[in-house]
Amino acid sequence: MADVEKIIENILSRMTLAEKIGQLNQQETPVGGDVEAFKAQIRRGEIGSVLMSVGATAGNDEQGEINIDFYNELQRVAIEESRSGIPILFCRDVIHGHRTVFPIPLALAASFDEALIEKSYSDIADEASDDGVHLTFAPMIDLSRDPRWGRVIEGAGEDPYLGGRVAAAVVNGVQGDGKMLACAKHFIGYGASEGGRDYHRAEISDYTLNNYYLPAFRSAVDARVATVMSSFNDVSGQPVTSSRYYLTEILRGRLGFDGAVISDYDAVEQLMRQGVASDAADCAELAVLAGLDIDMHDKVYLAELEKLVENGKISTEVIDDAVRRVLKLKLEKGLFENPYCEKRGFDIEKHRADAKDAAAESAVLLKNDGVLPLDKDAKISLVGPFVTERRSHLGSWMLDGKAEETPNMLEAMTKISRGEISVGEFSDKSDIIVLCLGESWTLTGENRSVADITLSGEQKELIKQAKATGKKVVGVLFCGRPIPMGDIEGDLDAILLAWHGGSEAAAAVSEILYGDRVPSGKLPMTVLRRTEHIPMYYNVTSSGRPTNCYYGENAEKCYRDGRSDPCFPFGYGLSYTKFAYCDVVCGEKSLSLDDLRRGEKFTISVTVENIGDYDGKEVVELYIHDKVAKMMRPMRELKAFRKIFVKKGEKKTVSFDLGYRDLGYYLSSGEYTLEAGEFEIFVGSDCLTD
Ligand code: NOJ
Repeated sequence: MADVEKIIENILSRMTLAEKIGQLNQQETPVGGDVEAFKAQIRRGEIGSVLMSVGATAGNDEQGEINIDFYNELQRVAIEESRSGIPILFCRDVIHGHRTVFPIPLALAASFDEALIEKSYSDIADEASDDGVHLTFAPMIDLSRDPRWGRVIEGAGEDPYLGGRVAAAVVNGVQGDGKMLACAKHFIGYGASEGGRDYHRAEISDYTLNNYYLPAFRSAVDARVATVMSSFNDVSGQPVTSSRYYLTEILRGRLGFDGAVISDYDAVEQLMRQGVASDAADCAELAVLAGLDIDMHDKVYLAELEKLVENGKISTEVIDDAVRRVLKLKLEKGLFENPYCEKRGFDIEKHRADAKDAAAESAVLLKNDGVLPLDKDAKISLVGPFVTERRSHLGSWMLDGKAEETPNMLEAMTKISRGEISVGEFSDKSDIIVLCLGESWTLTGENRSVADITLSGEQKELIKQAKATGKKVVGVLFCGRPIPMGDIEGDLDAILLAWHGGSEAAAAVSEILYGDRVPSGKLPMTVLRRTEHIPMYYNVTSSGRPTNCYYGENAEKCYRDGRSDPCFPFGYGLSYTKFAYCDVVCGEKSLSLDDLRRGEKFTISVTVENIGDYDGKEVVELYIHDKVAKMMRPMRELKAFRKIFVKKGEKKTVSFDLGYRDLGYYLSSGEYTLEAGEFEIFVGSDCLTD
């Protein structure tokens, strides 16, 4: 037996059943509540972990600063005054920043830069662990095709491959140097809730689940994520919280996850509302037998599990297994040696510089009729609700950043500009109008889905008025989601999608506008023309008729009332410079299935030349199409990408390998298959590339 296992067995052998069940119980911080009663619970061994926030939608409410002395005191009670002396695991939603706030996760995905994402999360872990947070409920890796869903901000968008690479980068960043533990969430299908309505049902076939929804989790598990959170929703009639099929057969059996599974907030109790349990005892029995180890907040395990063991409905072995996984977490985090939080400080200036890089790399230039970059001497009219906005840059699911430490656009532009900036009006004297538009952070996040996600009426009116001046108009869009742009795109000469970009968003965007940085972000989700076109995502299969109808192409055949192709496709994003793709070569024309199984690979190389006027970064994207297979395959599937820096006038050759695991797909049964046949390969700068 390995050392860790021996230690676990040793601890377990000394625990009472009640203490074991306590380890499976997670309660919310008692800040503002009855602290003495909470301490009494800790003394009785009833609390294994603490959620360091208050409320069912913690990302929407003010949480207040973490009081380290307070949490150290709770820890002291656990260690010194409880019989088992097992330390508490402290958990918090540190989703895209702590004191320094990085861009929302959807924006970080737009950077298509894993190293940058990993570094961002390493900084985040550095800060949050300094405040005593042991585990963060990140990464959220729910694939979503519906931008109406408020939580679309937290994920990596519509693509399973990009989602997988981002998931691994976040896990590596959080857990890399042992500062914190990560939690991949929400397993599974939460992003597929019907109509984008939060918490609603999802209808997902096993074929779709295996090929679209599971890959990001597979990748997080391969990166050795410590915990997984089950999702609120049901998938095709099975609440995930009580589903042995999803939590044990698929997550543990098929993906090989051996860490702890935690419920979402009150989700165990909610099994009654979902209509699969008639009372709390039922809820506990179903969830624990499904493979759910830690019960968040509703105390159903605490109230029910002991009786269920006593009356023989649940074996002690089931409880012991769950407790083993919780103890392993605590050992991995080193809590038995270092249970208390001791401030060591961190380099906030470095973190802010990294956050600025991240915001700059995430911004996506969608249109530019030659108006950007701005001349620093130009006279600018700076207009719109985001000229002085601070809080929304920090986005939703931001518990610890400070709006007052977040520069606004006026301050950031003024720092760089040498010309006059007139604010809030279309000044006659100005050369160019810069509209700072977007959506409030309060329209994004948990339980904040929105039916019409286009810009507000006032902002659309502002665009019309700006256009009517006859001047060049730049639209900077600060959004938590890719908003449909069919009704505004034509009136703007340049569009920069800047997202909710974090503490340094305004500074990064201003540097882009004035040409001190060259944009390089790419869309992780399709930008639609109209909200009514949802769902529309790039990796679709071909319909039988009409032919040649991919992704709204041949638009009039899709809807009769206007264009229905995407406004901007997945993977799309411009630069100030221009890249030419040439010499696309596939080293091997054909390989047999046996060759591929033995590990041989197709090597595809491409040369990218910077033929524009700026040094810049390009995301080289590779898509495949399996032309004939037993199951219909998408007309384009992202299978590789690399972000490269190319100086103006220079060329770089990039090569990608495609092997057995890259070309095949999963059957409904979960079995991986690759069939012999022809594949098309597309290399270029977005999903519509030739
Ligand atoms: C509910 C959310 O769905 C989940 O993502 C979050 O981690 C928990 N609440 C805890 O705040």
